Amino acid sequence: MTSRIADPRLRSRVMSAEAAASLIDNGQTIGMSGFTGSGYPKAVPMALAARIEAEHAAGRPMRIKIWTGASTGPELDGALAKANGIELRLPYNSDPIARERINKGEMDYLDMHLSQVAPMAWQGFLGPLDVAVIEVTGIRPDGSLVPSSSVGNNKTWLDRAQAVILEVNSWQNAALEGMHDIYYGTALPPHRVPIPLVRPDDRIGEPVFRCDPDKIVAIVETDAPDRNLPFTPPDATARAIAGHLLEFLEHEVGKGRLPPSLLPLQSGVGNIANAVLTGLVDGPFHDLTAYTEVIQDGMLDLLDSGRLRVASATSFSLSPEAAARINADMARYRARMILRPQEISNHPELVRRLGCIAMNGLIEADIYGNVNSTCVMGSRIQNGIGGSGDFARNAYVSIFMTPSTAKGGAISAIVPQAAHVDHIMQDVAVLVTEQGLADLRGLSPRKRAALVIENCAHPDYRDALRDYFARASANAYGKHAPSLPAEALSWHQRYIETGTMRL
Ligand code: COA
Repeated sequence: MTSRIADPRLRSRVMSAEAAASLIDNGQTIGMSGFTGSGYPKAVPMALAARIEAEHAAGRPMRIKIWTGASTGPELDGALAKANGIELRLPYNSDPIARERINKGEMDYLDMHLSQVAPMAWQGFLGPLDVAVIEVTGIRPDGSLVPSSSVGNNKTWLDRAQAVILEVNSWQNAALEGMHDIYYGTALPPHRVPIPLVRPDDRIGEPVFRCDPDKIVAIVETDAPDRNLPFTPPDATARAIAGHLLEFLEHEVGKGRLPPSLLPLQSGVGNIANAVLTGLVDGPFHDLTAYTEVIQDGMLDLLDSGRLRVASATSFSLSPEAAARINADMARYRARMILRPQEISNHPELVRRLGCIAMNGLIEADIYGNVNSTCVMGSRIQNGIGGSGDFARNAYVSIFMTPSTAKGGAISAIVPQAAHVDHIMQDVAVLVTEQGLADLRGLSPRKRAALVIENCAHPDYRDALRDYFARASANAYGKHAPSLPAEALSWHQRYIETGTMRL
């Protein structure tokens, strides 16, 4: 038994992953740790998937509902989706097998604002939580739990679940202890009070989770790495997007609308967002801060370059190479990083107070700047809204970025009308593609359309967009945000029927 379990009362509860998985019943709701490929339980979900497969084979269907922080790794979502063991999943998924089941209608999925998951669980809107399965770095002598590489909704799951299963993962660096800030001051209306955080580096909570030891029914010891995919090195498109964005930020500083050290950065998931952070390493800005959801490779580069003073998030989202880098020097990084519950990292009150610069990816935007972040062709889920809504609506300036085309040019990311809208035009201040940047602040819908078409659309689609906008402007029922309803989604229909949006 490892020295990571320092509370003698709990040592008798150590068991195998298979024995722990057998404590979970068909139909139960399980709150698991995990946020991107970090801090998710690795052994119990695999054992559970094997058990579910055996139950299915024996003619006893078994399925459970899974709540997490966000996406997880192949040992959790991948294994359980492959076993067809997930009845319902919330609040975010990026696993390809689970995505396929959701899009085939075989698995229910609640795509939620990440800041709202914990409050909704407390409000009782999501139903009862039977079991929490949480990865931790260690258990202290007093029974408090040292979080691992993500915090997500773990505090809430530990508080709300009837029973708790812990995975104590000795792969997680023991020097993580002290990095976390677990705030216990949230409450339900009408008892809510202001959250006392006014700077990204403020610590307002405790370094550990509290957990009633009587609820802990099993402890499983693991030594298993987090699984995040490597980022692809920035290509010409990503570099062009980053270039436009950096020029915009410099311009804003010049105009006196941003301080020279900018405002706290929020950077979304994906390769483009990572490329922008990498671009900031060579930019003119110093003494930067980040108040964001995940710390990805680019954020680490910024910290290492000395440009970024402090990063606050709820999780790491690091390539294996960056994870090794951080693990080799955790005590040093710990002084400049804070991991918090996602209801705090993404809290609208705090995003608005701090004045975050939000930078998120998108699937498509329409000419008015309404953004679809989630549903390809309006119906196929890609990942989910994640934290983009938490940040976009409340940011000081809300930036969305994308290559101007997808699928080798067969899809235009700028369309007459978004087939699904996650971020309404009022929440989208700036749109960037490799073609250029459209600063949409203070512009009416028709002025926005002209700018988006000329600055952001790919040249191959620009004429068709101009033509649509001109005819809509002449013929639409209303001239505020001109639209031709019968034609507005015809580009999507053409793609579904022919494999391209091109005429
Ligand atoms: N139509 C169809 N598919 C599209 C598309 C479009 N208009 N735009 C992108 N895609 C596909 C890409 O082809 C790619 O698919 P593939 O993996 O099969 O090749 C996939 O979406 C990812 O696109 P990519 O260009 O690699 O961008 P990305 O890694 O930056 O991700 C999002 C873009 C929108 C999918 C991603 O940012 C996301 O999930 N956002 C929502 C959540 C979020 O913003 N979280 C951050 C909050 S803190």
